[in-house]
Amino acid sequence: MQDFVHPVDILLEEHRKISRHISNFSDLLEHPGEWEAAIRNAIQLINHDFVQHERREDILVTELERMMGAKMGPLEMVEKEHRQLDSLRKRFNKALEKIDLSQVQGDDPRILELLEIGNRLVWAKKSHFFKDERFLFAAARGALGAEKLREIAWQMEAI
Ligand SMILES: [Fe+2]
Ligand SMILES: [Fe+2]
Repeated sequence: MQDFVHPVDILLEEHRKISRHISNFSDLLEHPGEWEAAIRNAIQLINHDFVQHERREDILVTELERMMGAKMGPLEMVEKEHRQLDSLRKRFNKALEKIDLSQVQGDDPRILELLEIGNRLVWAKKSHFFKDERFLFAAARGALGAEKLREIAWQMEAI
């Protein structure tokens, strides 16, 4: 019996948790009166939950790349999406800088822009999970031995 949570299971649990928050965020978007809450929710998701998840996932990516030497096609594709998600996050934060959160008004184009980028980003993230699971996690389950998995799990828990 292994005495640690498999790193892939740690990440899968985060995918499930984040997916639930993404659905909540989308529900808030349907009611302009809730947009301030939606923005706060998006900030938490994008600048906290996503970042923490990505830092944990990176440990796995780095380890797999080290093992497999050169870049492997499917991993490269996963990483390409990580970079695209990163650049959307930068755009979200740029749009956020222009906004006073204590004065959120539904007809303000800056608010609409922020919510549009936020919405695009969280759904891109959700659909990205499929690639993580199909390529990255599948490779990790097959390639890494128990010792290495334990080490990775400890590093993830420390984040
Ligand atoms: Fe992921
Ligand atoms: Fe990912």
